Amino acid sequence: MQKPSILFTGIFGAFAVSLGAMVLIPHSQLASLQPQVQWDEGANSPSDVYPQKRSVVGRDVYVAEGCFYCHTQQVRDPQYGPDMERGWGSRRTVARDYLYEDVPLLGSQRLGPDLANFGWTVKVTQKDGTEKTVSMWRDEHEDDPKKPAERNERWIYKHLFNPRAIFTDSKCPPYRFFFEKKEIGEKPSPNAVETDGKFEYVPTHEAERLADYLLSLDRTHELKESPTVIKPKEAKK
Ligand code: HEC
Repeated sequence: MQKPSILFTGIFGAFAVSLGAMVLIPHSQLASLQPQVQWDEGANSPSDVYPQKRSVVGRDVYVAEGCFYCHTQQVRDPQYGPDMERGWGSRRTVARDYLYEDVPLLGSQRLGPDLANFGWTVKVTQKDGTEKTVSMWRDEHEDDPKKPAERNERWIYKHLFNPRAIFTDSKCPPYRFFFEKKEIGEKPSPNAVETDGKFEYVPTHEAERLADYLLSLDRTHELKESPTVIKPKEAKK
């Protein structure tokens, strides 16, 4: 070996770069963090919001079916992507949003839209002074004539049974095994997704819990470390 100094500079350089990337930079970002006190105990506290409202069975179905392979549950800061412009949330998600989840379902790939705030609703005061709960606008394939804009249980059942009934070119797989074929009784069930006059397809218990879970996903309450960035836009009827 002619120049051992080059070898040692290389080895030293590799260690120095790793030390910088893995120790010094994270240290500069995280070292000053203080333990977070539940400053907002009350209406805004995550312990009020999670996980009591969430359907545990629905979450298990979500995990068992691998929905998290294609759907994330994390909203990025506007400087890293247009998540909020797509109506996926009003602020970025932070560690505290997952405080009560033993395994947070952050996901790693986005083949489909982010679901962190799929059930995002707000209360609005109507002209006559009464309040009503409305669901929020999401990236809605504006040009597609098929979709009803407001997400609710019936929307979810239709989408689960046949996503292409809602979006023409949907790549979301259909989950027909979540529906039971039943003979229609005196009148069709309110949640039936398809009927042929004699038989109808109705959601099973799993589908109902999954819908509960999806509609419970709302992490838009303001947190000190993640203030609201955009104002919600109401979904079309
Ligand atoms: C192979 C990837 C894939 C898997 C697995 C998958 N999805 Fe999807 N999903 C998509 C894609 C792509 C879209 C966007 C097209 C559409 O809306 O139909 C989507 C859309 C959706 C939407 C509509 C979101 C919106 O804002 O309009 C919901 C809800 C949804 N999926 C729920 C689920 C659930 C629940 C599961 C598991 C039971 C699941 N998906 C599994 C790919 C997937």
